[in-house]
Amino acid sequence: MATSVPKTMKGVWIEKNGGIEELQYRTDIPVPEPKEGQVLVKNEFIGINYIDTYFRTGLYPAPHFPYILGREGAGTIAATGPNTPSDLVPGTRVAYMAQTAYAEYTVAEANSTVPLPESIDTKTAAAALIQALTALTLIRESHPVKKGDWVLVTAAAGGVGLWLCQLLRAVGARTIATASTEEKRQLAKANGAEVTVEYHEEDRDKFVKEVLEITGGEGVHVVFDSVGKATFDAVLATVRRKGSLVSFGNASGAVTGFALGRLAPKNIKLLRPTLFGYIASREELLPYADELWNLITKDNLTVRIHEVYPLEDVQRATRDIESRKTTGKLLLKP
Ligand SMILES: NC(=O)c1ccc[n+]([C@@H]2O[C@H](COP(=O)([O-])OP(=O)(O)OC[C@H]3O[C@@H](n4cnc5c(N)ncnc54)[C@H](OP(=O)(O)O)[C@@H]3O)[C@@H](O)[C@H]2O)c1
Repeated sequence: MATSVPKTMKGVWIEKNGGIEELQYRTDIPVPEPKEGQVLVKNEFIGINYIDTYFRTGLYPAPHFPYILGREGAGTIAATGPNTPSDLVPGTRVAYMAQTAYAEYTVAEANSTVPLPESIDTKTAAAALIQALTALTLIRESHPVKKGDWVLVTAAAGGVGLWLCQLLRAVGARTIATASTEEKRQLAKANGAEVTVEYHEEDRDKFVKEVLEITGGEGVHVVFDSVGKATFDAVLATVRRKGSLVSFGNASGAVTGFALGRLAPKNIKLLRPTLFGYIASREELLPYADELWNLITKDNLTVRIHEVYPLEDVQRATRDIESRKTTGKLLLKP
């Protein structure tokens, strides 16, 4: 069953890996067809996630070229393939996680698509889904954070970072936030961090010393680090005995060549989780999504939107997120 769907659409693809100049805005991309268990969504808003840059640069391999970037969006179901759930019919407002989101229409697996309650507008849904659920699953499943725990968050004013600060405050954890500018650190504090520290990029020992001092010499119960290569050694040194280092991103490059023996002196747990590993089925995803909508509508958690860019301004948006100037979420509007 389908509403009227055109044959071609606007979208952004790359024909090879490379710099921002590889992002091509086009108006002649064939609209994909939903297959078994899939829905076709007419996007109203598209979420930008840092992972989109990894697929462009080649840090993560694109499955084929040309490749349409983008992992999340929200809009209205335009058509469905066979055997889709009864709550996903044409006309339903939804948010989804899928590939090829930088376009007017995107095919998404029903397993990764959630209907939106009336209380959640489409823009908020596109801005929240991946980053908020990442933060929520990290503090629940990667390292279940308890009231009173000391937690270190890097890139704390970014999309995922601001969610971590807010959710950790709700749990009653004591968050130490770090980010590259004083303005960003203050934003992290306004969103729930108890204290902030500078990265001290030229003197990592200073950063470690400050975190240890704040925690009475013990170190933190858990670090949620998404910066990767540039911060890995320093944040590892801030973890207390029996604590966890949850490394969930590579904004500065991937962590490689790690010797497991470095975990031994303090019995540290090291994890490298992905959101999808926690919400691979609809049964896993839907309760988290319901909780997220409640956090926004009932508990007043904030969805900070940095800017909504027209889809044709995708190069400017990407330049902004890579230049570390942004806070909160960047959206594209097709
Ligand atoms: N594992 C998962 O399933 C999962 C899911 C979602 C996101 N992530 C990861 O979470 C992180 C945050 O994603 P996001 O979409 O919310 O992006 P974001 O945090 O809004 O933007 C990335 C931030 O990384 C920091 N950064 C540090 N070193 C950098 C460098 N060399 N170049 C660029 N940025 C640098 C910057 O903040 P400062 O300037 O303050 O340092 C920048 O604002 C990313 O690493 C992403 O891959 C992982």
